[in-house]
Amino acid sequence: MIENVLAIETSCDDTSVAIVDKSGWVHSVVSASQDLAHEPYGGIVPEIASRNHSLALLPLIEEALKKSNKTWKDIHGIAVTNRPGLIGALIVGLVTAKTISQIRGLPYIGVNHLEGHLLAPFLRDSTFSPPPDFDYPYLGLAISGGHTSLYLIHGLGRYEVIGATKDDAAGEAFDKFAKMVGLGFPGGVRVDQESKKGNEKFHDFPRSLIHEESFDMSFSGLKSSAQRLVDEWGKEKVQLHLSDLCASYQEAIVDVLLHKLDRAAKHYKIKKLILTGGVSANSRLRDRAMEMAQKKSYQLVIPPLRYCTDNAAMIGYVGALRMNRGEFSDMNLGPSPQLWPDDFKDLRQK
Ligand code: KG4
Ligand code: ZN
Repeated sequence: MIENVLAIETSCDDTSVAIVDKSGWVHSVVSASQDLAHEPYGGIVPEIASRNHSLALLPLIEEALKKSNKTWKDIHGIAVTNRPGLIGALIVGLVTAKTISQIRGLPYIGVNHLEGHLLAPFLRDSTFSPPPDFDYPYLGLAISGGHTSLYLIHGLGRYEVIGATKDDAAGEAFDKFAKMVGLGFPGGVRVDQESKKGNEKFHDFPRSLIHEESFDMSFSGLKSSAQRLVDEWGKEKVQLHLSDLCASYQEAIVDVLLHKLDRAAKHYKIKKLILTGGVSANSRLRDRAMEMAQKKSYQLVIPPLRYCTDNAAMIGYVGALRMNRGEFSDMNLGPSPQLWPDDFKDLRQK
């Protein structure tokens, strides 16, 4: 029986380590953000991400153990993100996990990062737990800097993709807009803050594919439309109307996301919904999603930010469940920039 798992997440730009048990209880989670290292470049530089992971990881493992009041004797397995992600960044976590597994004689498993996001609502700690009646099946909108997809979650390992962005991820759309209006990196949170002072009806940005039957999304048209406006207006006029522009742009993204989620709930007759991934930190999205849930009697679970953004706790939970089912990885496991073909069943219309 695998009770406690030490988990490692290094797929993108956050280094994270957690100790989680098979019930989803998070004994500790510690992370190192690399925002400051990437800020001068206006985006994530893969080489810098790998180097920072290798500097941060071992101290974080020590800290996670210390914070959980556990020692290696209490750890029964290792979970590590091995896909999808930046290849160099994944290698740092994977090699570390394999080394610990060999030295300590512990089993280990490579985990799909997105599966972690989808099961994050089951994590628990002293200040968060999901509603007692929350369970499968549910709809999950995973929205981050690299991914924007809508899933049907039937149970552990039984996931269907019902919609996805055809181009940019929602977080990418936020980040690119922030860059073009001079708000810098990371952009999403800055656009969110600026929008609070603005009028979302100021400018009517395009909501691509919103009325299409499919649950697919697209944000590149929105981004190009904003770029054209910014080029036409010039810096001064953009600064003058910055908060109104941010609020209008943000509203277009939120409209598309919630419209698709609502339609999927109706279509599949599922009333349990989750938001996960970094963009679910967006305050306008959270407010409007909660409003929608109340109006339509949906049960909406948005895990706290520490479990929505990239974190090792969600990886540890998936690892614990899978290892208890008898699934383990061997030393031949490699990192993969993409998902594996069997990770999700694709229900999208081609
Ligand atoms: O899940 P995450 O931490 O990392 C991955 O991309 O996997 O998500 C990061 C993304 C970035 O694009 C960031 O701009 C966006 O989440 N984000 C936000 C907010 N906070 C983070 N987007 C909109 N509003 C926010 N408050
Ligand atoms: Zn993520």
